[in-house]
Amino acid sequence: MGDKKRFTSSRKLDHLHICAEQSVERGDAGFGDIRFVHNALPECDMGTIDLTTRFLNHKISSPLFISAMTGGHPGTKEVNARLARAAERFGLGMGVGSQRAALEDPSLADTFSIVRDEAPHAFLVANLGAVQLRDHGFAWVERAIEMIEADAVAIHLNFLQEAIQPEGDHNAVGCLDAIGELCREFKTPVIIKETGCGISEKVAKQCWGMGVSAIDIGGWGGTSWAAVESVRADKSRNEPDKRLKNLGEAFSEWGIPTVVSLAEVLATGGPVIASGGVRSGLDMAKGLAFGADLCGMALPLLKPAMENDEALNRTIEIIHQELTSAMFLTGSVQIADLRKARMFILGRTRQMIEKDNPARTRKYY
Ligand SMILES: Cc1cc2nc3c(=O)[nH]c(=O)nc-3n(C[C@H](O)[C@H](O)[C@H](O)COP(=O)(O)O)c2cc1C
Repeated sequence: MGDKKRFTSSRKLDHLHICAEQSVERGDAGFGDIRFVHNALPECDMGTIDLTTRFLNHKISSPLFISAMTGGHPGTKEVNARLARAAERFGLGMGVGSQRAALEDPSLADTFSIVRDEAPHAFLVANLGAVQLRDHGFAWVERAIEMIEADAVAIHLNFLQEAIQPEGDHNAVGCLDAIGELCREFKTPVIIKETGCGISEKVAKQCWGMGVSAIDIGGWGGTSWAAVESVRADKSRNEPDKRLKNLGEAFSEWGIPTVVSLAEVLATGGPVIASGGVRSGLDMAKGLAFGADLCGMALPLLKPAMENDEALNRTIEIIHQELTSAMFLTGSVQIADLRKARMFILGRTRQMIEKDNPARTRKYY
């Protein structure tokens, strides 16, 4: 294996361990600023609450989406297998981590394809960076989709991480055009996904204009890639890496909080996945009430997935119980009913949502 390939692959394992073992969450996604109006007479039976939903023409058993995390190093295969078994068991959608490592070195493909083996019926999303799309074109996207027999492909935007990584790609020119070309030429749906800094109204409009099928917010307030790269740089003995450690910490404040990004993107269209700092079934209920179609979680599922299947199944059951309780207490029998639930939007989240458009919170309460 060449140095570059080995590096891409070993970085995947570094990321998994840093995220599972160190403190890498920063900020406030904004869910704490949202309160549902309690329905003291919900007039529905909690036992009949139905979590099924549709996304990009697929029926999905729950709006919980397993966000892109891993694959690309032999040590990540079992984690992907566990996540996929949970996706199959609970009928969830799931994204795999960036498939770049396996495209550079096909011997790593099984760390991704295991996901389709374990989840033959799940809605699966392939994953590639916008820079790799621009530089390698459709051939890589095609292979990434085939590798897991994906139902959609996510093109991730991670320029904060690129700016901070010593080996990062600092040239973003041409990515938007590459996305447009992909959407025009491919019949597989294209999802644009941020990775922790959120999507603004302007970028959402550019993406819909290019023909993307869905947007995954990936907002600020959950896993911070600035923090992850800062921890990674801190482990290094090189002096330049110490500078990157400080840069990473300084930029852990950078990004659009998930709820604010959600309001901005939903003002421009949909479908939308709310992700970044979604930490419970109650956060999910708030995201869905805002208008999200699915809610993605990464870090909360990573830790149990690194333990065993039982720990992961238990975590998902608790999340579903929280979501079901929030639906019951707002009198929502179906996911669509949650969109009619009244909410108060408070504090900084409200200020940010109303900043350019004072009317934007009006429909929620
Ligand atoms: C260990 C780990 C690896 C990740 N790798 C990828 C990746 O390869 N591609 C991608 O689009 N997002 C990746 N993400 C980002 C997540 O999909 C998600 O957008 C982000 O972590 C925010 O969600 P969270 O706050 O629930 O963790 C990764 C997240 C984690 C925790």
